[in-house]
Amino acid sequence: MSVPTAVLPALPHWETTPDDLRAAVREVKAALRARIAASGRTVEEVFAVIEERVAAQVADIAAEAERGEPVWPVIDYADIAAGTVSPELLAKLQRRGCAVIRGHFPREQALEWDAAIVDYVERNRFFETYRGPGDDFFGTVGSKPEIYPIYWSPAQMQARQSERMARVQAFLNGRWRHESEGVTWFEPDRDCLYPDRIRRRPPGADSAGLGTHLDPGTLDLWMTRANQAAFRHLFDGTVEQYDPWDAAHRTAGPQYPGSTMTSVFRTFQGWTALSDMDHDQGVLHTVPIPEAMAYLMLRPLLADVPEDDMCGVTVGKVFPANEQWHPLLMNAVTGIPDVRAGDSVWWHCDMVHGVAPVTDQKGWGNVMYIPAAPWCPRNADYAVQVREALRSGASPSDFPAEHYERTWDGRFGVDDLSAVGRRGLGL
Ligand SMILES: [Fe+2]
Repeated sequence: MSVPTAVLPALPHWETTPDDLRAAVREVKAALRARIAASGRTVEEVFAVIEERVAAQVADIAAEAERGEPVWPVIDYADIAAGTVSPELLAKLQRRGCAVIRGHFPREQALEWDAAIVDYVERNRFFETYRGPGDDFFGTVGSKPEIYPIYWSPAQMQARQSERMARVQAFLNGRWRHESEGVTWFEPDRDCLYPDRIRRRPPGADSAGLGTHLDPGTLDLWMTRANQAAFRHLFDGTVEQYDPWDAAHRTAGPQYPGSTMTSVFRTFQGWTALSDMDHDQGVLHTVPIPEAMAYLMLRPLLADVPEDDMCGVTVGKVFPANEQWHPLLMNAVTGIPDVRAGDSVWWHCDMVHGVAPVTDQKGWGNVMYIPAAPWCPRNADYAVQVREALRSGASPSDFPAEHYERTWDGRFGVDDLSAVGRRGLGL
């Protein structure tokens, strides 16, 4: 039925950030529409297919919430370790694209790590020398996350290179299709060790939260050759085949730089709780619908969006998801359940997410960001930078060049790496 993709009009592409963004947006939108039309369908028809798929999930989530059932899948670490996660729970993880892993680490271990981080930053006079936020990446979504730009504490590295972390990452990577077209797009059982920051939000804190957004890219999602291939089904008349779990063409292409961007391919973003957090204390929310990405990618092609606008997406800023352009999705925004120190929280890399506001927060809100970023060409490239940063104590190149830890005492060193850690750095 469908038109062979080889005969569809080719798309213009920009492997580095276009000089004239508005002109490039106009050009690529016209070309994407022309390609869809040449496949024998209309943009409206293709969008309607995705809208219906997403709307069914939105309704399902609303019904589940109505019945008082947990929308987020909750998986016991012990079941992952034993390989006994039920087929029903696996199906739910696939459907929702996010999960809480209960008891990923013993609670005492997580609390010990939290205390060790405090000791590490205090010993090195971090609060006296802190120079303020090093990036304004979240400027448009209006918030000041309480983030420490600290990467190399022994606590963080112990968590990153632990067997327990490797096991969960392999389990999560395994939800994706990693081989197709004769290519192994990534290695599910080997993660690349990705250093990220920590957040410590104290009791009594007021926080404006963080608006709903996405992290996988900006205009490059429509404009690079690799991303156009990754999202090919949306634009070539085969929208029914779009699979948010297909890693094809996602693990090697270029990205447009931003002040805080992720160079790596992550199957899931995640964090590990270092304190207990109740569900109503300014916690993470997602739109737990992996296919919502297709909705976000197609939405700017509809006629009500100005020709030079991608629903507000532009380089150097986070990709916003909002009431103006995506009201359907906003109906499904769902927060995590209560978590305890040592639980971890994961969400598909394309998933819309945000952080709820809180006033006079009860208890701490402390997390260590650790994603699942399997070994692949893109991540192997980045590992070169990470090895260098680990040796010198620099801030990793994905993050603002703040470099607090270069002279710090008690920093984790190359000699402290475990087998998992060495493998994750390509050593
Ligand atoms: Fe984000």
